[in-house]
Amino acid sequence: MQHRVGVEALALAVPHRFLDLEDLARARGIDPAKFTQGLGAKQMAVPDPGEDAPALAATAAKRALAASGIDVSRIGMVIVGTETGVDHSKAVASYVQGMLKLPRTVRTFDTQHACYGATAALHTAAQWIASGASHGKAALVVGADLARYGLKTVGEPTQGGGAVAMVVSDSPDLLELDFGVSGVDSLDVHDFWRPVGRREALVDGHYSIRCYLDALTASYTDWKQQALSRELVRKGDTLVSEQLARIAYHVPFCKMARKAHAQLRRVDLQERRGGKAWDEQAEAEEAPKLAASFETQVAPTLPISARVGNAYTASLYLGIASMLNLQAPSLVGKRVGLFSYGSGCTSEFFSAVVADKAVARIAAANIEDILAARERIDVEEYERLMGLASDAPLPTAPAPGTFRLEKIQEGRRIYAAG
Ligand code: CAA
Repeated sequence: MQHRVGVEALALAVPHRFLDLEDLARARGIDPAKFTQGLGAKQMAVPDPGEDAPALAATAAKRALAASGIDVSRIGMVIVGTETGVDHSKAVASYVQGMLKLPRTVRTFDTQHACYGATAALHTAAQWIASGASHGKAALVVGADLARYGLKTVGEPTQGGGAVAMVVSDSPDLLELDFGVSGVDSLDVHDFWRPVGRREALVDGHYSIRCYLDALTASYTDWKQQALSRELVRKGDTLVSEQLARIAYHVPFCKMARKAHAQLRRVDLQERRGGKAWDEQAEAEEAPKLAASFETQVAPTLPISARVGNAYTASLYLGIASMLNLQAPSLVGKRVGLFSYGSGCTSEFFSAVVADKAVARIAAANIEDILAARERIDVEEYERLMGLASDAPLPTAPAPGTFRLEKIQEGRRIYAAG
């Protein structure tokens, strides 16, 4: 089962305001080091009601189409992974089709399973293409979300938002998937959830971290068996996880990637120890190797997440964007590991190879310019924005090349293009 399929181009969109987490910590009477070192975060995106999931999705999608240069008549499917949709019936993908004036000959739908939605969309698109049913057409896959826990909650410093859009095709100029090699794990748990009608998520924070790490252990073990049998990696002196040039994890807050990486290495190391219990000596021997491996394999995936916070379905894909934006020239031809986690929970560990046009493709996404154009706000303004009703968008004109929710009439959402 060898198919050439993956990401042809990628682009992102983020809310145009951000809050510095040291400012938030001081306002809450918390040591800023808890947020910056304890959670590994610097800033978080603060959306206003005009920057909802469809607006961010359409802005990112417009940029991804421009970055790929694809003729829109070649798009045959639009899938939006989101857990912050705006209608029980109408798909965010349908709003994206409308805003981008895509042809009627597209299939549009959303995928939902917490932060895993965009990964479900990516694999659905890849399988459609690999099956031949796409007849050479490409898919537009978007992850778009706003992470909202509420003022003065335990999750407050782990809010954020953003969207990543990808053109998925049989010309994977950016990232070619190891098609058919995927480890999965699912379990019915309540670690994080948002009952219908609630704007803020409910979360059992420390339990959610345990669920994430258990899911990572199981899905990585599943991927590893398949990757070994396909000879993508091999057993030997180098740990299997070390054979991946970079590993991008789902990042609800940056420190989670550090916890995840420690767990991933422990899976490899425990296998090597042949079942011998993990003890203090093993931990002491591992600590410097873990620190070095984290700096090389994981740290380059985190800079965007450190600046926008959690973007739920988009988060893993912000990690891919970070890594390529920083290091694409040295990653061409190398294999990377990718871990997607959706609370509730389902997860997938998969891999891909950075393709030879990645340098030009990621440059076309203009990531630094997009982040640099944001405005820093203070805690008072953040609290004001958080208090605004979601159905009363501010009368702000959209910046050139972006979309904003303009008004809602009898539930119909009207968007303005800048
Ligand atoms: N200086 C430096 N570090 C400090 C510190 C200080 N003054 N004070 C505390 N810390 C450290 C703590 O030691 C801790 O580090 P470790 O985790 O390495 O032990 C870290 O800061 C966090 O401290 P607490 O555990 O005390 O923090 P908390 O109780 O306030 O909760 C949280 C943290 C559970 C992540 C909470 O913010 C939360 O619930 N967030 C939302 C849920 C979430 O993101 N879960 C992640 C897994 S689920 C998922 O991935 C899906 C998704 O997107 C939601």
